[in-house]
Amino acid sequence: MKLNSIERAAMNNPLRAAHQHRVEAAWFRRLAGGALSGQHVLEIGCGRGVGSEIILDRFGADRVSAFDLDELMVTKAQRRLHGRPVTLSVGDVCAIDQPSGAIDTVVDFGIIHHVPDWQLSIAEIARVLRPGGLLLFEELPRHVLDTWVVRTLTDHPRENRFEAAEFAAELARHGLHGTGAIEQRFGGALFVGAARKS
Ligand SMILES: C[S@@+](CC[C@H](N)C(=O)[O-])C[C@H]1O[C@@H](n2cnc3c(N)ncnc32)[C@H](O)[C@@H]1O
Repeated sequence: MKLNSIERAAMNNPLRAAHQHRVEAAWFRRLAGGALSGQHVLEIGCGRGVGSEIILDRFGADRVSAFDLDELMVTKAQRRLHGRPVTLSVGDVCAIDQPSGAIDTVVDFGIIHHVPDWQLSIAEIARVLRPGGLLLFEELPRHVLDTWVVRTLTDHPRENRFEAAEFAAELARHGLHGTGAIEQRFGGALFVGAARKS
């Protein structure tokens, strides 16, 4: 699902970018166990492209492919990433436009909770990762999406949401096994983790 105007404003602002650069980048870098040098990294639901910038500049990826369902977000990302080794497109995580086994690392900066058939998106991520490839994820659990504030101010699918343990179980069903325990952040408002394809 595309973002409504309130969540779009929450995503497309300098505070969010600073948080991604200073906090979330450090979480993912530690979960990845170091740099992603020489890798082809896929960012799903790239929004305005701050995540792809981090993947190149902080994680050292060789090249990034990135897509978003929302063409307005992709236009913003194109402006931000002009001249960088990033291939941007409009696309759906439930039908990823990549060959099977083509990707070294997939990065999810908080998009799978926006996908109605999120289990299909996990199947697609597992398909495009090479054996031994890594998924880095940051997600919002069902109990947060069910709060009055989130339900009132934002648009998310209401049915078929997940808690961290259900997310991990779905990853494992597709051969993506946690590299460690899923970590809770901000009192359980977010969870982050990494999983490797067997
Ligand atoms: C919460 S925003 C996060 C954006 C960006 N990753 C960030 O951290 O700033 C979720 C993004 O996922 C995109 N999105 C939602 N459903 C999607 C889908 N099925 N496939 C690809 N992108 C999707 C939305 O358009 C939005 O840009």
